[in-house]
Formats: sequence, structure tokens, C-alpha cells
Amino acid sequence: MSKQDSWEDRYAGEGYLFGTEPNDFLVEQAGRLAPGARALAVADGEGRNGVWLAEQGLDVLSVDFSANALAKARALAADRGVPIETLQADLMHWDWPVAAFDLVVTFFIQPGSRDQRLLLANIYQAVKPGGLLLFEAHAKAQAGNAFGGPEDPDHLYSSATVRQALDGAEILLLQEKTIIRRRGRFPGKPAAVVRLVARRP
Ligand SMILES: C[S@@+](CC[C@H](N)C(=O)[O-])C[C@H]1O[C@@H](n2cnc3c(N)ncnc32)[C@H](O)[C@@H]1O
Repeated sequence: MSKQDSWEDRYAGEGYLFGTEPNDFLVEQAGRLAPGARALAVADGEGRNGVWLAEQGLDVLSVDFSANALAKARALAADRGVPIETLQADLMHWDWPVAAFDLVVTFFIQPGSRDQRLLLANIYQAVKPGGLLLFEAHAKAQAGNAFGGPEDPDHLYSSATVRQALDGAEILLLQEKTIIRRRGRFPGKPAAVVRLVARRP
């Protein structure tokens, strides 16, 4: 089964696999958000983050390769009474927009190490000069942790990979840390993550 089909399967059931509340790190960074800004939510799944951004007054494009997930994202947006634009695309083969978004947010898309740099470079290129990139994903230390993250350790990130891929970026925050999840599939459980806030000069 392809990766895309396997995500479609996971999203085919009732309910929201990762919940409907936004990512904690995104909420922590709320002070950096500007209403009216054009935002791209990368691999946004069922839209918990894209819809939350729309609720903060941002103009959001939510992209994922799962049609099932995006249908749920649209339903969540309708439920919350906010507009959201969705696009089904494979981000590893997408014709990425360049310098098009004031804010790009990326949570837990975990390709293999060979593709991580390319993905990150494309994500960064999508940010307008002066715009911001927020990123969080499972870090190398998540290997062997039963509470989430890819099974293959090659799909975990290091902060060094993130830094190298963002050539020229102003790094405002880059850390690897173990957090205790507040929400999602494993509330109360630890997760090793890489977190980034960067500005495109
Ligand atoms: C762990 S989920 C995270 C979803 C969402 N960011 C969140 O935090 O709730 C990973 C998401 O990446 C999407 N994804 C993985 N590879 C992708 C690709 N090549 N193109 C588009 N979406 C992809 C999956 O469909 C899934 O929605």
C-alpha cells in the first residue's frame, strides 16, 4: 500500500485522529501571528491547525495528500464558522509556491532523511521575505518511544538537518526537547521533538 493510501485509510474512520484542538507549540507562538496574514498549513491533515489559524483571522491554505483528511478539515472549518481553502497535493511532488505566504506552519510530516532537506527547503522558499516559518516534528530521540512518531528512525529529524536546510534563514528558535503532550492521541505522554521558528530575511 502506498503512503498516501495508508493515510487515507487512517483518516477513513469517524472522528479526528489527532483531535480538533491545535498543536501546543502553535498556540504558544500565537503572539507572532498577524490577523489577515496569508498562511500555508503544510500536511495539515484534518485541519486542527489550519482551522485554528483561520479562527485567529488568518487567510489559510491547508494542503495534504489525503482527501479524507481535507474533507474533515472543511467540516471542522464549517463547524467553527471560518473559511479555509484546501488543496490535495503530494508535497514531495508539488509545484511549490515561492515567496507566497506570510506564515508557513508544518507539524509532523516525517519523510525519510533523504527527502527532509528538500521538503524543508521548499517550505522555506514558500515564505515571503519578512515572513515566518513554524515547524515541529519528531526528533531522533523519539526512536523506540511507543507513543507516536514514525516506526522507521530514518524518518526522525535532527536540529542539524533543519538548520542546514534553511540556508540564509534567521533562526529565532531551534530546539530539540522532550515535551509532555497535552492533547492529541497520547495526552500526558512524552514526545521528543524538534521545534523551529525562523524568519525569512
Ligand atoms: C502525523 S500527521 C500530522 C497532521 C497534522 N499536521 C497535525 O498535526 O494534526 C502527518 C500528515 O502528513 C500528511 N502527509 C504525509 N506525507 C505527505 C505528502 N507527501 N504530501 C502531502 N501530505 C503528506 C499525511 O496525510 C498526514 O495528514
